[in-house]
Amino acid sequence: MIKALVFGATGHLGSEMVAALKSKNFFTTAVVRSRPDNSFPENDVDDFRISPLSSSDDFKGICAGYDLVISALGKSVSPFDRSKRSFRQVDLEINKKILEDALQNKVKKFVYVSALDAEKYPDLEYFAVHQEMANLVALSGIDYTIVKPPALFSAFIDLMKMAAKGQLVNMGKGEMKTNPISERDLARIVVDSLAEKNYVLAAGGPEVLTRKRINEIIQENINPAKKIRTVPMGLVRSMLPLIKIFDRNSFDKIAFFTEVMMHDTIAPIAGSETLQQYVNRKKHLP
Ligand SMILES: NC(=O)c1ccc[n+]([C@@H]2O[C@H](COP(=O)([O-])OP(=O)(O)OC[C@H]3O[C@@H](n4cnc5c(N)ncnc54)[C@H](OP(=O)(O)O)[C@@H]3O)[C@@H](O)[C@H]2O)c1
Repeated sequence: MIKALVFGATGHLGSEMVAALKSKNFFTTAVVRSRPDNSFPENDVDDFRISPLSSSDDFKGICAGYDLVISALGKSVSPFDRSKRSFRQVDLEINKKILEDALQNKVKKFVYVSALDAEKYPDLEYFAVHQEMANLVALSGIDYTIVKPPALFSAFIDLMKMAAKGQLVNMGKGEMKTNPISERDLARIVVDSLAEKNYVLAAGGPEVLTRKRINEIIQENINPAKKIRTVPMGLVRSMLPLIKIFDRNSFDKIAFFTEVMMHDTIAPIAGSETLQQYVNRKKHLP
């Protein structure tokens, strides 16, 4: 039985990775900071490893005995996440320590979740650290899969909450297009392609949608009685220098959001679940 160790296992993508591995009969250990709540699919996990993943000692030997390490660990992009650590401290520094231990312990395969087009935005911290980490993995000599999704549908869960309260806004005209993917589809695609050596997997969902249409689908399926307002993009961007002075983490997130709103971000179509199906699957969950 192949032994898999999953970091970020409590996250939207990580928990789906765990489920996808289980469905393919991997022996799966989830690394968690604390025992997860009831929403976590405990039946999909063969073992838990509880670790704060903060001091260097926490990483020593953590990958020993595993064939496969998957990291979907990263700082949340949600504006409602108030954790203090930066993208660099989480997405790069923690994942670097995981990679080092995987190399030390001769893990056969390392899967890292980066982001589509990360290499195109070296000035945006979110993309820069994902790209730096992906480069470290690719140059390390370990067999890898680097996963490059556009947005995951889970990135819209905040928008679903805002839509319920009539607080959803379009930033500018919302004309740029993307094909976000269901994290469930992505996890299945990753696990199905593990045999590929040194593989960069760019994978998007089945529909290419404008940002405006994404908001409309969410609003129509959550609370059609409410309207979506529009905020001029110029207004949001004009506030960025001030936000940068007072709150670097918020700046990094808003700078990321405003930048992706101004470009098409389209990956090869790989997923099958539509945004509407996802919203209706998730909308009754707490
Ligand atoms: N969401 C998107 O649209 C999107 C698009 C492209 C790429 N990605 C990338 O895909 C990866 C997974 O995304 P996701 O949406 O599944 O993220 P998520 O739901 O926010 O989950 C993040 C995971 O990382 C863990 N984590 C966060 N900070 C940590 C810390 N300081 N120490 C230890 N663990 C920490 C969380 O653990 P706790 O539960 O303990 O907090 C959680 O398990 C991330 O690298 C993300 O940047 C996401």
